[in-house]
Amino acid sequence: MPKISMDWATGMLAGSSVKTSSKTLGQIRSLFHDQEAASQVPVDLELYRVQFYTPVEDGTEGGLFWGSTIIQPGKVGDEYFMTKGHFHRLRNRAEYYATFHGEGALLLMDEKGATRYEKMSPGSMHYIPGHTAHRVANIGSTPLVFAACWPSDAGYDYETIEREGFGARMLERNGKPVLVPRG
Ligand SMILES: [Fe+2]
Repeated sequence: MPKISMDWATGMLAGSSVKTSSKTLGQIRSLFHDQEAASQVPVDLELYRVQFYTPVEDGTEGGLFWGSTIIQPGKVGDEYFMTKGHFHRLRNRAEYYATFHGEGALLLMDEKGATRYEKMSPGSMHYIPGHTAHRVANIGSTPLVFAACWPSDAGYDYETIEREGFGARMLERNGKPVLVPRG
């Protein structure tokens, strides 16, 4: 097995077999509800970065993947920076999230569109059941860092979210984050 290490102070992974992917604001600005504000964002700004460790081939039944995500603080208009969000392609696959740093909102949506959220703060643990789309918004003023563990055959369905979105958004209202149902 390749050697990796987890820095439990920072929440970051290290090792030659750790892969990284990132998304810029320009790549995902279509997700935000205020498209006028989205048209004026710095497109090259890195919104989030994911490190992941995949000791078995993607799609393997019975394996586990591990990842760390860092989401920068900020907003597009009144909407907090967030990840794209996804259902798992194998819908019944679950996942753990655990927060290291920052303040976040884990949006959870069932297959009928009902959307709720769990507050993320340092040390918080989140069990994401199957059949539940998940997206994370950084509702704080510092980078949000969390780790994830998920089955290696879960896969990703981003398309459903691109097409239909979540049932609610994390928006700033009177200086505070509020879950606002889709109008
Ligand atoms: Fe997932």
